[in-house]
This record gives sequence, C-alpha cells and structure tokens, in this order.
Amino acid sequence: MKPSIAVGVTGASGAIYAVRTIAALMEIGCHLEIVFSDYGKRLLMDELGTDAKVDRLQDLLEARYGAAVRNGTFVVHSNKDLGASLASGSHRCSGMVIVPCSMKTLAGVSLGLSRSLIERAADVMLKEHRRLVIVPRETPMSLPALRHQVAAAEAGAMILPAMPAFYQQPKTIDDLADFIAGKILNALGFEQHLFAPWKGE
Ligand SMILES: Cc1cc2nc3c(=O)[nH]c(=O)nc-3n(C[C@H](O)[C@H](O)[C@H](O)COP(=O)(O)O)c2cc1C
Repeated sequence: MKPSIAVGVTGASGAIYAVRTIAALMEIGCHLEIVFSDYGKRLLMDELGTDAKVDRLQDLLEARYGAAVRNGTFVVHSNKDLGASLASGSHRCSGMVIVPCSMKTLAGVSLGLSRSLIERAADVMLKEHRRLVIVPRETPMSLPALRHQVAAAEAGAMILPAMPAFYQQPKTIDDLADFIAGKILNALGFEQHLFAPWKGE
C-alpha cells in the first residue's frame, strides 16, 4: 500500500517548495491528500505563473519534474471542508507537512483553532501523535510568530523553516527547492536523493 501523507499549502511565499515537495513525495510512490488555502492558491500563480492552477496540478508537476511523479497519486480537498476524511483521527495519513506555512496558519495550529481543514488536519496529527512538519516562511519574525513556533514544537510538531543551506553549492532556484524538499522527506521518515548529504570533509 502507498504511504499516505497530508500536504497543506498556505499563502506564505515559497510555492516552489510546495510543488517540489509534492512532486518528490509522488516520485517515491506516496498517495497525497492535498489542501490549498485561498492564499496558497494565489501564491502558486503569483510565484509560478498563471498556468499554475490547482485544477491543473498534475500537468504542472509533470511539466516541471517529469513522468516520475506518476509513481504517486493525489486528491485535493477544499480547505473549507471540515467534514473531509483528513478532519478525523480515523484517517490513515501517517504524517503531514504544511509547506509553506504562513504565520496565520502557524498561529492557528499552535493554538489548536481548527478553523480550516489545514488547521484541523494538523490538530489531528498532533492529537494522534503522528508526524507534523511545519515549514514557516516569514522574515523578520514577530515575537508572536516565534512563540507560536515554540508552542507547536512543544505540542510535537517539527519546525523546519524554509531556510535552504549553501554548503551543497546550489546553482539554481530548483537546487534550493530540492534542499528544502529533501529535508521535508527526511523529516517525514523517507529517504531522499534530492541533494547530497554532507560527508564531513
Ligand atoms: C504575495 C504575498 C506574499 C505573502 N508572503 C507571506 C509570507 O511569506 N509569510 C506569511 O506568513 N504571510 C505571507 N503573506 C500573507 C498571507 O498570505 C496572509 O496572512 C494570509 O491570510 C494567509 O492565510 P492562509 O494561512 O490561510 O494561507 C503573503 C501574502 C501575499 C499576497
């Protein structure tokens, strides 16, 4: 059976991190339950072009990353649908990533507000003690945003900032996105081949 992973995409800058992560999880054969916030959809088009529409996501992924994404599958849920499968602990997603994660959704998750399907699915991950990876993107960060990250980490989430490294000598924006997506795969418990691990030399 394919591993099932939930993916939330919110309105922080860094849509490329979302599509690279989605593609990488599909390349390794995952089934994804994806939820875009309204601003997540907007940022997808603002940052990746007007063709980057959620209802053409499969085409977008194949055009950017090739046919290997067909190893995986996905469904997209409405962020307003609090009755979707993801809203229940009986759903079998083994983990969730919110990438990129806005400060608004971060606050909602850390306070357990469950106002949207992304926030509710994240709350389910925390209550069921499953992996929740939050990829915040903002700079500089306000004190409330910093506090919300501490609260989410204390509740069991992993905070994995959209903060690429440079020791792998990236040449392109795709190299930077590969680094973050690779870190997310590792955080979800998968092997990754998107960047070479540091060898200590
Ligand atoms: C072009 C653009 C870039 C934005 N970048 C960020 C960002 O990097 N981080 C952030 O927290 N909010 C950012 N925002 C603001 C969020 O989109 C806004 O707070 C929104 O209400 C988040 O809602 P959501 O979490 O439901 O997607 C950005 C908004 C726009 C229009």
